[in-house]
Formats: sequence, structure tokens, C-alpha cells
Amino acid sequence: MQQKIAVLPGDGIGPEIVAEALKVLDCLRQDHGLAVETEPGLIGGAAYDETGTPLPDATLALAKAADAVLLGAVGGPKWEPLDYAVRPERGLLGLRSELQLFANLRPALLYPQLVAASTLKPEVVSGLDILIVRELTGGMYFGTPRGVRLNDQGLREGYNTLVYTEAEIRRIGHVAFTTAQKRQKRLCSVDKANVLECTELWREVMIEVSRDYPDVSLSHMYVDNAAMQLVRAPKQFDVLVTENMFGDILSDCAAMLTGSIGMLPSASLDQHGKGMYEPIHGSAPDIAGKGIANPIATILSLAMLLRYSLGQTAAADRIERAVSAALDQGYRTADIYSDGTRKTGTAAMGDAIVAALRLDRSA
Ligand code: IPM
Ligand code: MG
Repeated sequence: MQQKIAVLPGDGIGPEIVAEALKVLDCLRQDHGLAVETEPGLIGGAAYDETGTPLPDATLALAKAADAVLLGAVGGPKWEPLDYAVRPERGLLGLRSELQLFANLRPALLYPQLVAASTLKPEVVSGLDILIVRELTGGMYFGTPRGVRLNDQGLREGYNTLVYTEAEIRRIGHVAFTTAQKRQKRLCSVDKANVLECTELWREVMIEVSRDYPDVSLSHMYVDNAAMQLVRAPKQFDVLVTENMFGDILSDCAAMLTGSIGMLPSASLDQHGKGMYEPIHGSAPDIAGKGIANPIATILSLAMLLRYSLGQTAAADRIERAVSAALDQGYRTADIYSDGTRKTGTAAMGDAIVAALRLDRSA
């Protein structure tokens, strides 16, 4: 049976970057016989504008029925005045939680061609290859009670809840350990166990899970130190595992080590490996519609999708080689541009990657 990808472009630069990923997919279909179909759906602010909700039932049904989901980005100033319940971000969070995509893999890999694009010194970042495993359906993002209320003194009081069951910690722990087994077998669990009980439990459960993986060395780090170490000496890490909000923050930080947040793909997987794939950056409303956004994170997200959810390893390898080839040829969007390279817009970058793909006739 033909495999199906649900394609949800979303808001801001979402439609522009997803269009480039679809060009790449079309090329794989035409030139390399890849048999997948796509079906578009509404998400985020775009969905709210058309249907009054950021996650229409039709989109949820499409995402559930598809073999995998490719998402652009959601959100923008236009929808900021809305109630939390119908904000674009709720659409994304709703999909993550409805599909039980608890395991978010965010690789931060520095392409050697982009060493000069990082704000850090070349010796600090060259050869960087780390992976953040972020828990995605628990913690503060979903914990209740939450809200803003009036306290006894009549003052408004905002509150959220950081909560994890041991089962939730254990299942992300298993993903992190098995992922580390396929890499350098070093796992660093990031918590704030010196202050927060919830993450003290996180540490205890990680230690329990580690007994099943004697070949992986487990270390622990407080999140503040981890943020510092990521910019001080990022190559000390192989795989990091952490809770939802810490992972959100640390993955943006890790992204910048690679030159630009526009380079980083991600996979969000459920228990069975079904997943949603999206660039880790947001909708970048400030540059939306200008044709200058970097489509590479989305194109690499498509590669992850083909690799992890559709089992199309050769196609995924092809995409990754084509991205590297386009970079070799000097093509750079504004976010990764440096002297002596060719400044390229969104569509031209997509075209350059497709051209490289066409030339790649190897098995
Ligand atoms: C991310 C984003 C999202 C998050 C937003 C858009 C809700 O920042 O995927 O990292 O906070 O998870
Ligand atoms: Mg984020």
C-alpha cells in the first residue's frame, strides 16, 4: 500500500519552507521511484482563521490516518491576542499530545561547510554532533492545575504545574538509552534535582532505567550548568535527555552552535515509531513572505521522516547528501551566509538541493 504523509504548512514561513520540502519529495518520486502520497491539512493560525480552531478535527483525523506528518511552523503576532485555548501553539501541542508523540529527537549537527557561520569559535564547534532527546507530552506544558487566578490579597497570580509520573520518565528514558546505544553510548540526563522534587524523581528513574543498559554511561547535569556547558564545550555531549521545557530551551541553544536554527530538523515519535517531523524553529513572522527563510531544517525533517517512519533509508541518505552538496556549492540563505559564499533565497536553496538530488544517481 502507498504510504501517506500528512503535510501541515501552518503559519509565517511555514508554507514557504514546506513548499521546498515538497519539491524535494517530488524529485524523489519522479527520479528515484519513491512511492508516497501527500495530503495537505490546516494547522495553527491558518486553521483558526478558516475554521475557528487551531487543530480542526479533519486535521487530527488526517494526522492519525497518515503514516507520518510533516509540519512547517505555527504562530504569529496576529493571533497573540487570542485566548490560550485557540492560539496556534495549541494546535501543535494538541497534535503532539493527541498522537502521543512523547519522544522528540533534536539532532544538532554542524556541517563542516558552516563552521564559519557559528557565533562560536571553530575549535569549539567543529565536528559537533549531539542529540537532544526532549520529553514532549508532559511536564509544565501540559501539567494541571494551570491558569491565572486572584489570590487572598486580591492579587493576580499565575501558576503552572511541573508534573511527571515515573512511567512517563521511564518511557522517555528507554528511548534515550536505546538512541545512545546507536551512537557513542554516552547519555547525560539534565534536571534541576537540587531544587525541584519532580526532577529529583526524574534523576532517580533515569538511574533505575540505566540498569537495563549497562553499555551506556549515564551522567547527570543541572540544567543551568548544561546551558553553560553547551556553549562552553558542547562536544563533551553525545546524547542529552531532558524534560519538556528544559528541552525546549536547550535545543534552541544547541541549534545556534550549528550556525543557525534554520538548519535543525526534529522528529517527534510515539511508542511505535510513528511520527511528526518539523524544523525546530518557529514561524519567523518577521521574515515571512520575503522568500529568504532557510528551508534546510524542513528538508532535513523530511529526510528524518523518510528514515524513521517510512523506512526509506536510501531516500533519506540522498536528501542529506544533496543538502551537503548544495552547501559545498556555496549556496547560503541569509542566516548562514558568510563572506565568499552565494546568498540564496528560499526557493533557490530548494532548487539547488533538488539539482543536487537529480545528479545523485548512486544507489
Ligand atoms: C518548539 C517550539 C514550540 C514549543 C512552540 C511553538 C509551542 O518552541 O517546538 O520548540 O515550545 O515546543
Ligand atoms: Mg522551542
